[in-house]
Amino acid sequence: MTTLEPAPPRSDAVTYQQILDTDTHTVPAVLRRTSDVRFTDADIPISRYISREFHELEKEKLWNRVWQMACRSEDMPAVGDTLRYDIADRSYLIVRTAPHVIKGYYNACLHRGRMLREFDGRVDEIRCPFHGFCWELDGGLKQVPSGWDFPHVLARSDEFRLPEVNVDTWGGFVFLNPDENCEPLTAFLGDLPDHFADWDLENRHKSAHVAKVIRCNWKVASEAFAEALHVVATHPQILPSIGDAITQYDVWGNFSRAISPNNTPSPHLRWTPTEQEMFDVRTDRRLGDDPVQLIPEGMTAREYTAAAARKMWRPIVGDRVDRMSDAEFNDSFYYTVFPNFHPWGAFNAITYRFRPNGDDHESCIMECMFLLPFGDRERPPSAAVNWLGPDDEWVEHAPELGGLARVFNQDTFNLPKVQLGLHAMKKPGVTLANYQELKVRHLHVLLDAWLSRD
Ligand code: FES
Ligand SMILES: [Fe+2]
Repeated sequence: MTTLEPAPPRSDAVTYQQILDTDTHTVPAVLRRTSDVRFTDADIPISRYISREFHELEKEKLWNRVWQMACRSEDMPAVGDTLRYDIADRSYLIVRTAPHVIKGYYNACLHRGRMLREFDGRVDEIRCPFHGFCWELDGGLKQVPSGWDFPHVLARSDEFRLPEVNVDTWGGFVFLNPDENCEPLTAFLGDLPDHFADWDLENRHKSAHVAKVIRCNWKVASEAFAEALHVVATHPQILPSIGDAITQYDVWGNFSRAISPNNTPSPHLRWTPTEQEMFDVRTDRRLGDDPVQLIPEGMTAREYTAAAARKMWRPIVGDRVDRMSDAEFNDSFYYTVFPNFHPWGAFNAITYRFRPNGDDHESCIMECMFLLPFGDRERPPSAAVNWLGPDDEWVEHAPELGGLARVFNQDTFNLPKVQLGLHAMKKPGVTLANYQELKVRHLHVLLDAWLSRD
């Protein structure tokens, strides 16, 4: 990875590391890690977002070769559960073939090519609806209709096993890679599992899953969630409670991270909010409304939020809450695993995924999942996907996302206009900030590497 020295300058406000110094509990080592890299400041060509050729290149050299998050393992808890995963013009069928075995197949019949399954669901066998060719869950050929007419198939039944794609799991997620010669998932993820060692994503249950079609390239949408630079213009109502310009950005190997402190005022504000005002904004109450919870004298909003969170989570995760820092209960830890998987750290429940909407490079699917700890209780069922069309706004159609829906409305309001503006632009590229758009730059640095491979 090419880097330039020195690391780019930062805002002259307090740093996130200095905020960690004030924590009432021990801060985990992973939050003390910084990367201090700097990339080129060259523009990103607009063609990456609007050209069909670029999309075709991504299909061939990225989506056909890269590890990508396909689903949660909990989405398919029982043997025979199947899940369809589509990326661009490809469709794959993920099947739980035994209690602890998940396989991935090309979602296409070996007879005349019909998609094997269009819907998720539990089956005993995989039978094509067109002429009835049938396979065992483990991919072995089970039955050929009018077998007398297919002696050339029956004689070579091994060649009529369903072809597999690589599948592996991490953190309760199922990943898929169509490249027969790909590196192992563990090598691809690098240190990521260390970062999540204390934030076990496997023992979480998916309490919400919303997917929305947005009229912009998948990278336009992904990049809108990769920086806090837009907060001052797009979400001004949360400035009293988010340290937007204090956000710490880091990149390592195939993943990156942004940490935005909450219950911390933005350096852009020309006034100093009280601890109570920060808290009220953070808990989605408008300033001036009667506070529902009063922060005791002498306590900060960060301390109060952490204390309340420890109390709330103690019955579920036990005394572990006493070993967790205030930071882990307050702040936003936004990880991105190249190219499109975005799990958040600590007890923040959010995971995002962005991918092309079918084979259309000018629209995409943004997904938001909520992953919650469930302690010693039985795992609650995994939420079904709530699909929103391009004109369905979040607040009305995705109330399960709570206050986040209002923020998403503001975010996704911009995105189709970005796509339109990119088409209208005279300048041939978009220009990035050196530090605050480091995660955006990292995506393109890695994309360059993937697309230039043979
Ligand atoms: S296409 Fe599947 S059985 Fe004919
Ligand atoms: Fe936003």
